[in-house]
Amino acid sequence: MGAKFMNFAATATLLFGASLVHAVPYSPSLHTGTALVLIDIQNDFINGSLNNPRAPAILPRVYKLLDDHEWPFIVASQDWHPKGHVSFASAHPGSQPGGSVQVQFVETPLKTENQSLYADHCVPGTWGAQLETGIQSRLWDLEGYRAPVHYIKKAQDHSVDSYSAFADNQYHRFTTLNSELSLHSISTIVITGLITSACVRGTSIDGIKLGYEVILIEDATESISAEDKAKAITELKGWGVQVKNLTDWEAENESDSN
Ligand SMILES: *[C@@H]1O[C@H](CO)[C@@H](O)[C@H](O)[C@H]1NC(C)=O
Ligand SMILES: *[C@@H]1O[C@H](CO)[C@@H](O)[C@H](O)[C@H]1NC(C)=O
Ligand SMILES: *[C@@H]1O[C@H](CO)[C@@H](O)[C@H](O)[C@H]1NC(C)=O
Ligand SMILES: *[C@@H]1O[C@H](CO)[C@@H](O)[C@H](O)[C@H]1NC(C)=O
Repeated sequence: MGAKFMNFAATATLLFGASLVHAVPYSPSLHTGTALVLIDIQNDFINGSLNNPRAPAILPRVYKLLDDHEWPFIVASQDWHPKGHVSFASAHPGSQPGGSVQVQFVETPLKTENQSLYADHCVPGTWGAQLETGIQSRLWDLEGYRAPVHYIKKAQDHSVDSYSAFADNQYHRFTTLNSELSLHSISTIVITGLITSACVRGTSIDGIKLGYEVILIEDATESISAEDKAKAITELKGWGVQVKNLTDWEAENESDSN
């Protein structure tokens, strides 16, 4: 009986001991009160319909933030547009991607806003709408096990676009992001993703407006050109966003992992 129990205990230690190494977050590197935010790292923004040769360069940095750091909360946003969405040039006869149209505000028809137009993108059920495979596989490994992962499927409303992961472009409707961050006692958000001048910009500004400390990892975000990215970063600094490269950010937070 005793020997049998010993055997069982030894086996259990071996089995559970091994898995516990992974299951229990390595607390010295846990970024308490801080969420990692991944904006729209979807195939269409990398090599899909909005193919961007500058985008793949961010992937190793985002992988590193997921692989080498412990987060109490991770957010992954996805553009999630119905067919015929207001941001699709194909929905406006005579328009081309790269153009723009004036659209009425949903609740205030007398007001209009300038809606930029794109090729169809991020339609649910398509490959282009999926998160890039290296990002998605890492999130599947982490979620519900080492970190809660909150997916935001944004801009689902047919007639209002949503750059920010917090709210649509007319502040007509908010997502669950702010309440989820509050629920998890998050005060700092570390932002990465695509693209710097649109959805990363919108999310960063809303983060500041809602009272978060916002850190943008500048080499983990990209835009359509160096000029477009630099212009967005200058504006975001003006809003109070802290802009740092990954090396500097890791160095400043080094004491956490020592
Ligand atoms: C990382 O360093 C910055 C200062 O650059 C600080 O504001 C932030 O709170 C630190 N984050 C963590 C998780 O220690
Ligand atoms: C996009 O890039 C990935 C690898 O980064 C590759 O596996 C895939 O085939 C590419 N798809 C297209 C449509 O170019
Ligand atoms: C709408 O935005 C585009 C791109 O920024 C710009 O070229 C255009 O002049 C704007 N139109 C209006 C009416 O503001
Ligand atoms: C990060 O930024 C610092 C300046 O703050 C610079 O010295 C360093 O070379 C940069 N590192 C990388 C990898 O870009």
